[in-house]
Amino acid sequence: MPIYELRGVTKAFGDNHVLRGVDLDIRAGEVLTIIGRSGSGKSVLLKMLIGLLAADDGSIRFEGTEVSGLQEREWTPIRRRVGMLFQEYALFDSMSVFDNVAYGLREQNLLPESEIAQRVAEALKAVSLPGIEPMSPKDLSGGMKKRVALARAIAVRPEMVLYDEPTEGLDPINVTRVDRLLLRLRDTLGITTVIVTHNMRSSFRISDRLALIDEGRIALTGTPAELRAQASDPALRPFVMASRVSLRPPPGPAASSPP
Ligand SMILES: Nc1ncnc2c1ncn2[C@@H]1O[C@H](COP(=O)(O)OP(=O)(O)OP(=O)(O)O)[C@@H](O)[C@H]1O
Ligand SMILES: [Mg+2]
Repeated sequence: MPIYELRGVTKAFGDNHVLRGVDLDIRAGEVLTIIGRSGSGKSVLLKMLIGLLAADDGSIRFEGTEVSGLQEREWTPIRRRVGMLFQEYALFDSMSVFDNVAYGLREQNLLPESEIAQRVAEALKAVSLPGIEPMSPKDLSGGMKKRVALARAIAVRPEMVLYDEPTEGLDPINVTRVDRLLLRLRDTLGITTVIVTHNMRSSFRISDRLALIDEGRIALTGTPAELRAQASDPALRPFVMASRVSLRPPPGPAASSPP
């Protein structure tokens, strides 16, 4: 059974019909990347998965249970299990980096105070920012803030994480590092991973499946190989062209081993 099953999900803001019937499954342990134009509703869709925005219509099932009509407090157990990295960081400028990364651990009472420092240090090390605990988010670059927000999302060790543009504004070295980190988290801790990104090259590299959102619906889903094979699809073609994703499959073990 998929973790999430979305069927016919709609969302409008006034006359702006952002989602017009989204059908999507999210499977345990997969890396699923959602791509789509700016303003197509990717961030709206992620927020609906943890109840920060309510669907107008349609069904959202979490482990088989309908969650679309839940009350605010009923979302709390789901939000403990499904973490989110927000596109605009959502760090608290009035707190140190330490307190930001420790926030979820303290709020959810996950660890005794004596063990929090160790967990915070590990999370910051994982995003290649060891030792910046005393700093203020105000004094960090955009890319550093993004990685601190990432550390905060993973510090609570959720079963699933929704990453909204995890590599936006990062230099190429850190894009690769974050990509590797997300894969490592999935492989070592089994974290189900949903990524929204404009970085087509990295999404083709690290995803098990991709979903393209277009005109308020999921226009295509498939593995990188399946999407490569459909590169001429009118909804997909502009992305593939603009990002120059290679349409040749990456060399498999057979191709790369010596004759
Ligand atoms: N709380 C809100 N109130 C009103 N309109 C909203 C709200 N949140 C999102 N929208 C609108 O919904 C549409 C989709 O927004 P969303 O942030 O999901 O786009 P996106 O696909 O994440 O874009 P980007 O790639 O630029 O981040 C936009 O037209 C946006 O203005
Ligand atoms: Mg967005």
